Amino acid sequence: MKELICKLEQNESLEKDEWIQLITEQTPELSAFLFEKARSQAQKYYGNRIYTRGLIEFSNYCKNDCYYCGIRRGNGCVKRYRLSEDNIMDCCATGYKLGFRTFVLQGGEDPWFNDDRMCRIVGRIRHTYPDCAITLSLGERSAESYKRLYAAGANRYLLRHETANFSHYHTLHPKALSPERRQRCLYNLKSIGYQVGTGMMVGSPGQTAEHLAEDLLFMKALEPSMVGIGPFIPQKDTPFGKKRAGTLEQTLFLIGLIRLMLPNALIPATTALGTIDPSGREKGVLAGANVVMPNLSPLTVRKKYALYDNKICTGDEAAECRSCLQKRMRRIGYNLAVDRGDAVKK
Ligand code: 5AD
Ligand code: FES
Repeated sequence: MKELICKLEQNESLEKDEWIQLITEQTPELSAFLFEKARSQAQKYYGNRIYTRGLIEFSNYCKNDCYYCGIRRGNGCVKRYRLSEDNIMDCCATGYKLGFRTFVLQGGEDPWFNDDRMCRIVGRIRHTYPDCAITLSLGERSAESYKRLYAAGANRYLLRHETANFSHYHTLHPKALSPERRQRCLYNLKSIGYQVGTGMMVGSPGQTAEHLAEDLLFMKALEPSMVGIGPFIPQKDTPFGKKRAGTLEQTLFLIGLIRLMLPNALIPATTALGTIDPSGREKGVLAGANVVMPNLSPLTVRKKYALYDNKICTGDEAAECRSCLQKRMRRIGYNLAVDRGDAVKK
């Protein structure tokens, strides 16, 4: 197994069978071996600097009904909200003062935020903060819409592929959603010029080592600038409310593998990782991640953006996630950067 990891480190491609082997034969010892190599790759490109993105969860309305997601349309227990344009601008102002130079606007697939409204918001942020990157995470839209948003000033787009295996995709989503369309969106975004982020949940119901191997092959082919992965965590009011969560160990192992496969990628230590383990985000960085995404959403809405249960940073004590993360990162020898945080060239 160590040979396969060394092969990866040399930037060689692995076959599907080799990925499957690695994933099935993960042990604590192999993980330690991998993480050391993954960390040194991350440090080669990014040093001890951890990039930050200010996350603004601006709407929890969603027209989709993904079986895993807490804000799915069918979840009647959710108190729905939309931030006003001025509210969003206030979040950016607070964020800028705190040192954020990337804003991530994330929401459910909410038709109220049509192209005109969304472009106006992106345009205002672009105009007010010319030195900042704007990342969108709005789900699937037409190529035309992606183009308009890009022209309005957006630079990056996050759209997880969720799983590269088509039949697995259909077990996670209702019929109306198609994996082909999802993947087409990613290629559209890329050809328009966005820095694209994709990724998947680790340990989602029905996921096998073979599916994860297919995810890795898909990402190798797409060559995204960013890869967001986190453990699946059940949300009690969804169809998957009683399913088992993904594990910390497997998520960290995948972060390490992705770091070696895409050495200069931007890889966040996600909130979901911090939710399944109190020092999950620190462990993520030590496994090869180089980005954190502290929450900038107003405290009043944070609990309502619950994709899964027990999400961290939703209480009053989390008013200032940036300084919390700064402390956490310093403790393990890293520092938060005040920087747009673009990917470094390979
Ligand atoms: N557990 C973990 N991650 C989830 N996501 C959605 N629901 C859950 C859940 N229950 C992830 C999806 C989505 C991203 C915004 O959050 O992968 O793309
Ligand atoms: Fe949000 Fe620590 S990062 S409270």
